[in-house]
Amino acid sequence: MQFDFNTYTKEYIDNEAIKKFASKANEIKKKFETNLKELKWFQMSEYVDNAELKEIKELAVHLKETTDVLLVVGIGGSYMGTQAILSAMLPYFKKTQPEIIFVGTSLSSEYYYDLMKYLKEKRVSINVISKSGNTMETITAYELLMKMMHKKYTKKELKQRIYVTTNIHQGKLLEEAKKNGYRTFFIPDDIGGRYSILTSVSLFPLAVAGIDIIEFLKGAKEGRMYLNYASIYAMVRTILYERERVIEAFTVYEPKLYYFTEWLKQLFAESEGKDCKGILPISVVNPRDLHSLGQFIQDGNPCLFETNLYVDTCRTVTLEKYHEPMHDIEHLVLEKVCEAHTMSGSPSNIITLDSINEYHLGEACMFFMMSAAISAYLTDVNPFDQPGVETYKELIAQNLRVLK
Ligand code: PA5
Repeated sequence: MQFDFNTYTKEYIDNEAIKKFASKANEIKKKFETNLKELKWFQMSEYVDNAELKEIKELAVHLKETTDVLLVVGIGGSYMGTQAILSAMLPYFKKTQPEIIFVGTSLSSEYYYDLMKYLKEKRVSINVISKSGNTMETITAYELLMKMMHKKYTKKELKQRIYVTTNIHQGKLLEEAKKNGYRTFFIPDDIGGRYSILTSVSLFPLAVAGIDIIEFLKGAKEGRMYLNYASIYAMVRTILYERERVIEAFTVYEPKLYYFTEWLKQLFAESEGKDCKGILPISVVNPRDLHSLGQFIQDGNPCLFETNLYVDTCRTVTLEKYHEPMHDIEHLVLEKVCEAHTMSGSPSNIITLDSINEYHLGEACMFFMMSAAISAYLTDVNPFDQPGVETYKELIAQNLRVLK
């Protein structure tokens, strides 16, 4: 990975500002060298389990033979990382075998009506994922789909088709798995949803989709060498926030990284957005959004900075007219857009991935998880809880009880 936190931000960041945060950032970096429970996702040797990986790969082969559609049922950190990696890795216009459909993020009966119709003649398996085992949207989708599954398959067949990923202690999903003998993957206690991309939460569905999970884990493990860059990035973000840049646009030029920006939005919003603090993340896909949000970024309220996630090497086509590979023209657009936006008060960071493959995506995931955690620590908020989400969940639970 390469990092440029200077070319298009230097007017906004002076030595005084860096001095203000540098010693705090250094203290925070030391946390990663200790065995802090809350940073378990960083200590990969503590939870990456070779026996489980082997089994995941075997089950993936089995599902490829028996399944047309794998439904991945989950919400938030229980599916967004998987969708990000899967969509980045797939060639455009290609479906996986089995097809992977993410379910559990809507309560749209229109959606479920069409889904059931679509699944009618298909061989279906389900991976339901919920750390708490009780999330309303996930359980609702799961129960609805299980009605269909019970009509399609015998109890014995379901044992080969239902896979439950949850915590080891309690919850509706654990009870369900125990009662019916479904294969269970356990999410380590100290790893929360949005930091669980390196666990069976993502590894199982990714393996079923044919992604090389070993390379992905290798990239993530080696990505820990970017801790210092993660800390610089976190400092730059915090300084820009103090300069009233309260929105961060995660900007990509490769459309298939769109879901990666969705994962980033969740990672940063849930880690930082609390105690009336935090930077609001949005996602931008260029050049498309140069003709929509671009107007605001260039000319509107200067409340924003951009973090571009750029891909260095990719397959390319040559444009006869310019005698240049299209990728070089895209790069020129990136540079000139950063220049234009910076001139009008919207500074830009550029983070470059060498190319899109499992290894480099693994590196990027580790880099951004370290950055999100350090950013939250820098503003004295706990990166790993989400009290705001709990509040709405509790209100819904109370009202559902009233309706019963
Ligand atoms: O990052 C998080 O912790 C959240 O986004 C959770 O993943 C999300 O709320 C789903 O929770 P659960 O896995 O318990 O169903």
